[in-house]
Amino acid sequence: MSEKRVLLIVGGGIAAYKSLELVRLLRKAGVGVRPILTKAGAEFVTPLSLSALCEDRVYSELFSLTDEAEMGHIELSRSADLVVVSPATADLMAKAANGLAGDLAATTLLATDKPVLMAPAMNVRMWEHAATRRNFATLKADGVHFVGPDEGPMACGEYGYGRLAEPPEIFEAIMGLLAGGAKPLAGKSAIITAGPTAEPIDPVRVLTNRSSGKQGFAIAEALAELGCRVTLVAGPVSQPTPKGVRRVDVETAREMLAACEAALPADIAVCVAAVSDWRPESVAATKTKKTGDGPPTLSLVENPDILATLSKAAKRPKLVVGFAAETNDVEAYAQAKLARKGCDWIVANDVSIAGTMGGDDNAVSIVTAAGIERWDRAPKSQVAQKLAQRMAEEFK
Ligand SMILES: Cc1cc2nc3c(=O)[nH]c(=O)nc-3n(C[C@H](O)[C@H](O)[C@H](O)COP(=O)(O)O)c2cc1C
Repeated sequence: MSEKRVLLIVGGGIAAYKSLELVRLLRKAGVGVRPILTKAGAEFVTPLSLSALCEDRVYSELFSLTDEAEMGHIELSRSADLVVVSPATADLMAKAANGLAGDLAATTLLATDKPVLMAPAMNVRMWEHAATRRNFATLKADGVHFVGPDEGPMACGEYGYGRLAEPPEIFEAIMGLLAGGAKPLAGKSAIITAGPTAEPIDPVRVLTNRSSGKQGFAIAEALAELGCRVTLVAGPVSQPTPKGVRRVDVETAREMLAACEAALPADIAVCVAAVSDWRPESVAATKTKKTGDGPPTLSLVENPDILATLSKAAKRPKLVVGFAAETNDVEAYAQAKLARKGCDWIVANDVSIAGTMGGDDNAVSIVTAAGIERWDRAPKSQVAQKLAQRMAEEFK
């Protein structure tokens, strides 16, 4: 990355100070940073701090004889591999969406021929205002990349979407774009569940199923390859952890749900795990012995429904995908499951086909509100890559 350069526009928001941390991360990774500080931005961070961290001079004025002589605004707009706006204020977004060019930052955004990444930060009402929604949609249609904003408490005391994404998240999005733009999910995050659960009966016995975790692990890997930050919540399986994926190992359904909830908020949730619908009502403290009085009776209680819980969560991911492994009437069950759980897609697979449950192939149908798409049988890795690409399309 040592030859890569970023042109960083710092807008006039309360989160401008976080851009200093972003600069530090970029410089540490060997990325050159040339800063543009807007007039309002300079109310929040000083040109001196920005300049010192960037090890470059700060550009602020459009009508500056010295600036124009040293580096004209058109040249400035082309001087980096990527233009980053952080924080992207409502004002900067509005200017860029409407092609205004009344100051150096806006002119640069209009004149650049390089990819642009915006990290919006503003009050939740400003973010949710119809004008900002329009500007956001226009900028996305114009090909501008976005990271955040996040949900959380705001400096003004309100709560909601509008917080600047954390600097490491913006950094990851930048690195993804600098790496060639083949990272359409840079800056996005996903929770994947995979494998079976194991519900204890006594200290040595469990209630479990034949899920291998292969499909869920392959999806985690495919999403990570597209730049997504992935938390993989895995039941007891012997699969290697895919590169760049954060893995949380669990045993029971209740542990799996707790790990998923701890990983929220996220942009995507994919519930691939074969979660045990039931668990023994009580777990014997010692190994249950043969007594000669016949087999013991196992009384079961229902486990929490992870897919339904995530679909209804206050911090619901934008895209919630469930898997339905069935042995008959696969698509009909999947359609019913989609409606019942409140998720966005169901990936239905017929596990009565030899070689799918626990094997290396999968034959799936994607069931959404728009209809059913049938995919040919393929290796689980290919199904995962195709699914990850489809998910990335949802975030364009
Ligand atoms: C204390 C304070 C905090 C502000 N924080 C934000 C903010 O987080 N996001 C935003 O869009 N505007 C914020 N504003 C308003 C902007 O500063 C104002 O719209 C400014 O014109 C934006 O300039 P820019 O286009 O250079 O970013 C804030 C204003 C003040 C006084």
